[in-house]
Amino acid sequence: GQTKVQMSAFDKGHSINYQRIEDNLQVVRSRLNRPLTLSEKIVYGHLDNPHEADIRPGASYLKLRPDRVACQDATAQMALLQFMSAGLPTVAVPTTVHCDHLIEAQVGGAKDLARANDINKEVYDFLATATAKYGIGFWKPGSGIIHQIILENYAFPGGLMIGTDSHTPNAGGLGMVAVGVGGADAVDVMADIPWELKCPKRIGVHLTGKISGWTTPKDVILKVAGILTVKGGTGAIIEYFGEGVTSLSCTGMATICNMGAEIGATTSVFPYNERMGQYLDATNRTPIRQYAESFAHNLRPDQNAEYDQVIEINLSELEPHINGPYTPDLATPLSKFAQAVKDNNWPEKLSVGLIGSCTNSSYEDMSRAASIADEAASHGLKAQSGFIVTPGSEQIRATIERDGQMQSLEKAGGVVLANACGPCIGQWDRKDVPKGTKNSIITSYNRNFTGRNDANPATHAFVASPDLVTAMVFGGSLTFNPMKDSLKGADGQEFKFSDPSGKELPPRGYDPGENTYQAPPQDRAAVNVAVDPKSDRLQLLEPFKPWDGKDPQGLPVLIKAKGKCTTDHISAGGPWLKYRGHLENISNNCLIGAINEANGEANKVQNVFTGEWNTVPETAKEYRDKHHTGWVVIGDENYGEGSSREHAALEPRFLGGTAVITRSFARIHETNLKKQGMLPLTFKDAKDYEKVRPDDKVDLIGVKDLKEGSEVTLRLHHKDGKSEDIPLQHTFNAGQITWHRAGSALNHMAKSKK
Ligand code: F3S
Repeated sequence: GQTKVQMSAFDKGHSINYQRIEDNLQVVRSRLNRPLTLSEKIVYGHLDNPHEADIRPGASYLKLRPDRVACQDATAQMALLQFMSAGLPTVAVPTTVHCDHLIEAQVGGAKDLARANDINKEVYDFLATATAKYGIGFWKPGSGIIHQIILENYAFPGGLMIGTDSHTPNAGGLGMVAVGVGGADAVDVMADIPWELKCPKRIGVHLTGKISGWTTPKDVILKVAGILTVKGGTGAIIEYFGEGVTSLSCTGMATICNMGAEIGATTSVFPYNERMGQYLDATNRTPIRQYAESFAHNLRPDQNAEYDQVIEINLSELEPHINGPYTPDLATPLSKFAQAVKDNNWPEKLSVGLIGSCTNSSYEDMSRAASIADEAASHGLKAQSGFIVTPGSEQIRATIERDGQMQSLEKAGGVVLANACGPCIGQWDRKDVPKGTKNSIITSYNRNFTGRNDANPATHAFVASPDLVTAMVFGGSLTFNPMKDSLKGADGQEFKFSDPSGKELPPRGYDPGENTYQAPPQDRAAVNVAVDPKSDRLQLLEPFKPWDGKDPQGLPVLIKAKGKCTTDHISAGGPWLKYRGHLENISNNCLIGAINEANGEANKVQNVFTGEWNTVPETAKEYRDKHHTGWVVIGDENYGEGSSREHAALEPRFLGGTAVITRSFARIHETNLKKQGMLPLTFKDAKDYEKVRPDDKVDLIGVKDLKEGSEVTLRLHHKDGKSEDIPLQHTFNAGQITWHRAGSALNHMAKSKK
């Protein structure tokens, strides 16, 4: 049959590699000798080393070869800067960058976009030129939200992709295993380093019955979130199966997978089915549909495949849900919601309803919302609350403008924003309610943590389907239940909403709208990457220096951190995020949140050479620039937990750090430190943490002979002249030791490619 089906319209010369999955699975099956779930087939089908891989769900680590990488504009900056520092000519797998996070919603689409183009010009110029130089597809501001663009153009059944954004799992709606990662992982894959993932556990969600009426795919995930809670999916892939699946549209399945991020799942995925086929046809990818059909046996679970846990949901009985406030797993069925509002004293008046975002802005979503708005309009009603619409992509915007849904939403009072994240990521210059005022909003988004949308901690944000959000905007109150309550029309007559209805796919096909894509040019050698040396947001990265071949001696302890030290303590967010493309500037936040054991204070440490007290970053710089020495950090338990933010490893390395020695590490941070050429080490006996004094100088004996499983000795030189030796451990494997020797994983990769 077919063997060469292009991965996407934009990826000439890159075809879908189902043969590799088939071959890998043959090896894996002979080793495991048991039926496989869908996610296992896709994940193991992308193993780098199927013969040797240690495959134990929830326990071992896998080395994988993803098919593609996607980055959003906020996280892409440091990822590209790092990739550039390796000096490689081109990315190893098809990669795209999407400008969606940096557009602030103020007045509406075109004006907001123009302002963003102005404010973010240097970042956009950098991304546009760096992507062109290294063979990366670039989606300009206004093109839409990363996950929507991926679904429309790039996702395919059985694929494996990583994206530097937590809602990358959206592509599971097209049967892809798509995982949200940190920039460091993206850089690895772009540089042809295998990607490491903890072998996922498998949670099955068995769908029976048929979805109908006011219940939407969103309600499936709102319900699942209520069952599993925000932690329940951790380390697992959520796999949907059962006869209920085919009653969900492809874009609806994407909504479900998207919001699986809220329960901590590695990702979520659906088996290949005809609804995916229809979506592939509608988005001009019939050859992919045909190829997937011929490979369907590997795009669904084996019979009797076993899951670590199975959840049962009968779609025929599933009620619409509203989740929140402040957490996405507080799920209340619609029939009980009005009472819950009263019991909990949540603000009853609905201030604003927001639909769209990467989670819920399909043609189907917009059509159903428009059907509700039309019905309200036929009774002379306008929105009683603020009403905001964010189309997920230029294609959706153009199509709903052509087909009239946009006009229906606008006529009702809706404000259509730019095709971007906007209020979903807090890019919302909200004016209707002063900060600090208690109020309620309801969105069709995915996340509703405190302050997420409008930076007002008193805002009660609820999450629901776009249908409910739209209906409630006309009710103007959180207690309005469109399934049961009537509204009064302009003519004084009471009416009840009919069930929402809408076309899943545009009958006249999608209108692509304006062309917002920039393909990498043929002649890439001529491209100059635009980084203004005076910029305070962007700075080119120099490769880190290789290790000098000696055991480090006489290193000061920069800080002995006490208690929790998360990636937020190591590299603070908030206003610092502005500098995430400028390592020197963002390094001024290095460890400023960590508590110094010496004085119980944050960001105040003593220079062991001068005795002066100063901030952590300034002291680190003094060690690096005046005393020409490396330094160590001493940390407590689970050091570096939190996010995969690579800045938390880049900054200490940039400021001249040598080693981080802790009771224990959060694994991702530990790996990130190794990638940057640092030495993450742990006390063999956790109690030895107590022996280190903040004014010690230390030697590290055994770095020269670092081997898998070897010990390093920490020699403490106390101020009183005494010294003592403490045994340390490390988790470097042979490959990772070469990273340390070379100065970083990228240095090593660059060397081996030459
Ligand atoms: Fe994230 Fe943007 Fe979606 S902020 S949740 S990708 S709309």
